[in-house]
Amino acid sequence: MFNIVRWNFISGVKTHRLGALKQAVQQRCSRVRQFSSSFRRNTVMPAWVIDKYGGNEVLRFNSNMTFPVINYPNEVIIKVHATSINPIDVNMRNGYGSASLNMSRDPLNVKTSGSEFPLVLGRDVSGVVMECGLNVRYFKPGDQVWGAIPPWKQGALAEFVVTSGNEISMKPKSLSHIEAASLPYVTLTAWAALVNSCGLNKEKCPGKRVLLIGASGGVGTAAIQLLKAWGAHVTAVCSEDAFTLIKSIGADDVVDYKAAQLSEQLKSRELFDVILDNVGGATEALALQFLKPWSGATYATLVTPFLYNNDRLGIADGMMRTGVTLSCKVVKHLCKGVHYRWVFFSPSGPSLDEIGELVKDVKIRPVIEEIFSFSDVPKAFNKVEKGHARGKTVISVTESK
Ligand SMILES: NC(=O)c1ccc[n+]([C@@H]2O[C@H](COP(=O)([O-])OP(=O)(O)OC[C@H]3O[C@@H](n4cnc5c(N)ncnc54)[C@H](OP(=O)(O)O)[C@@H]3O)[C@@H](O)[C@H]2O)c1
Repeated sequence: MFNIVRWNFISGVKTHRLGALKQAVQQRCSRVRQFSSSFRRNTVMPAWVIDKYGGNEVLRFNSNMTFPVINYPNEVIIKVHATSINPIDVNMRNGYGSASLNMSRDPLNVKTSGSEFPLVLGRDVSGVVMECGLNVRYFKPGDQVWGAIPPWKQGALAEFVVTSGNEISMKPKSLSHIEAASLPYVTLTAWAALVNSCGLNKEKCPGKRVLLIGASGGVGTAAIQLLKAWGAHVTAVCSEDAFTLIKSIGADDVVDYKAAQLSEQLKSRELFDVILDNVGGATEALALQFLKPWSGATYATLVTPFLYNNDRLGIADGMMRTGVTLSCKVVKHLCKGVHYRWVFFSPSGPSLDEIGELVKDVKIRPVIEEIFSFSDVPKAFNKVEKGHARGKTVISVTESK
């Protein structure tokens, strides 16, 4: 009886558009669902896990991984159709960021060391909603969704994943799951950089000159497309063999950082309003001189010592060091008339809704370099670890390649 009501509801319209009566029925069904004894569910699932930090050899296929459960009323369980590998997955496998991420997982520090294992990596997800928490209004079982899962949560290299309803969005219908899984983490990082850190958007972009360093990877190819969708002029720094790809997604000007000194090449260009640096290190010192001073110009970098400091010095000393470093840099560059920002990926369903609209208008397209099957996850890690990405590396979990 309960299941009949539930599945009739599933075929209905979006939850947030239901009338009061339907909502009451839905709430009653949701409550009833907790006590349903006829709905058989798995207790284990296949997943790629790590049981300790290290090289690729720590990746282990586990066919008996514990099935995720909804712990908070705003969470959903998603059946994963596809995911992707980002540099953060390789870094997390190596143990990078573990001090900060363990603090997010266990803020009161009551769990024993190593309690994060078995750890599932994989930040991107494209799949189908299987079950919703009691407060989830925007999604219902059966919805096709995409999203990026924060790094302190269990990831999507598994048959199912649980995440917050605020962190996902309806998958654009024009994309397959494999295509959709290539976009959330990198587009949301580009969004965090360009919108949140540099104050760019559809209205403010036209006429702005943007320099993108590290343009040929996941974040770079996403950032170029966002900027071009909003009408900015984009100068992309990458290797020469990526020129065709980078021009095909809209870059106005390309600079080969291997051909000659980057600073010499950039001197022949007009100054920039925004620089997004996906490479960091030496490029940071070099790039800042190419911003228009005293005009609100901003340099934003994705490569920060925040997680590294916490790993090395512990949370308290690490945060202190990070705060001092960032404040010194911000003040130093403010005195020279430019803004200096560190960028952090931020999961956001609402931002993905907007990105989805740009996908629908064919302003943003997936740039996929290679697709691996679920059994080849270690090969995919190997590939990403070697660097020189040209777009994204995607894992097909249930989809055929
Ligand atoms: N702060 C955050 O929250 C956050 C979020 C996402 C990513 N990140 C970081 O941001 C960086 C970029 O991420 P991603 O996903 O785009 O990485 P990716 O897919 O591996 O791409 C990096 C790209 O940079 C190119 N490259 C390397 N050295 C370069 C140089 N000196 N000048 C210009 N291009 C260069 C590489 O190609 P070639 O080597 O062949 O030139 C590659 O195409 C990574 O370090 C990642 O860890 C940080």
